Amino acid sequence: MKRLVQPEWLDALPPADPRARRSRRDLRRINWWMRNHIILARVLENNLSATPKQIVELGAGDGNFLLRVAQRLSPRWPDVQTTLLDLQNNISAETLVSFAKLHWRAEAVVADAFNWSPADVKPVVVANLFLHHFEDAPLSALLHKISQSTNLFVAVEPHRFTQPSLVGQLLWLIGCNDVTRHDAVVSIRAGFAGPEISALWPDKENWRLTERRAGLFSHLFIACRRE
Ligand SMILES: C[S@@+](CC[C@H](N)C(=O)[O-])C[C@H]1O[C@@H](n2cnc3c(N)ncnc32)[C@H](O)[C@@H]1O
Repeated sequence: MKRLVQPEWLDALPPADPRARRSRRDLRRINWWMRNHIILARVLENNLSATPKQIVELGAGDGNFLLRVAQRLSPRWPDVQTTLLDLQNNISAETLVSFAKLHWRAEAVVADAFNWSPADVKPVVVANLFLHHFEDAPLSALLHKISQSTNLFVAVEPHRFTQPSLVGQLLWLIGCNDVTRHDAVVSIRAGFAGPEISALWPDKENWRLTERRAGLFSHLFIACRRE
């Protein structure tokens, strides 16, 4: 089954729309079940020998995903600067306070990931349920930009499999709304299998690439610059 990228409803709804709010709450639950925060936290621990100065999440949504990662990592990695970048402003003051309680400094940046560049130091760049939004050509351009901005990039994405509509039915059973159910099926069709992200990564000689299935529903990509 080939990748099929189609519009997701949540991207088109205004942030304050009640169906969008509800869908973002559903997304928190789905992220928890997918265990993507645990997958990302482990990868960061295994690939970094010291506390990173800065972590940037592209397509950060309401910031809750990276907050869960911070909750796992902050006991050993205090004082990390995080940038939560998204096209929409969905980060609540409460979420920013929750980061501060962990002694992580979080800033919300409303921007297009395609136009983003780090200021001076190269941050760690992460993404969760984000890359699958893009067709191969723009995704390739985005990965090129990321490769120039960081020494470590980690993405956790939907794993693509046949019959994604079964997941839609499962989400209905647990009370997810129509937006969430639609977007979940679209996301799985646009998700990844095999070394598809690696194939689009530039300059492969200077990077160690890992790409594999993770957990039941996730697809993990790690790009670590060779020293
Ligand atoms: C499925 S949500 C995932 C949010 C978050 N990473 C999480 O796991 O909860 C995808 C997010 O990507 C954002 N997004 C889509 N295109 C973007 C772009 N070009 N630049 C920045 N953010 C974008 C959307 O606004 C949305 O919040």
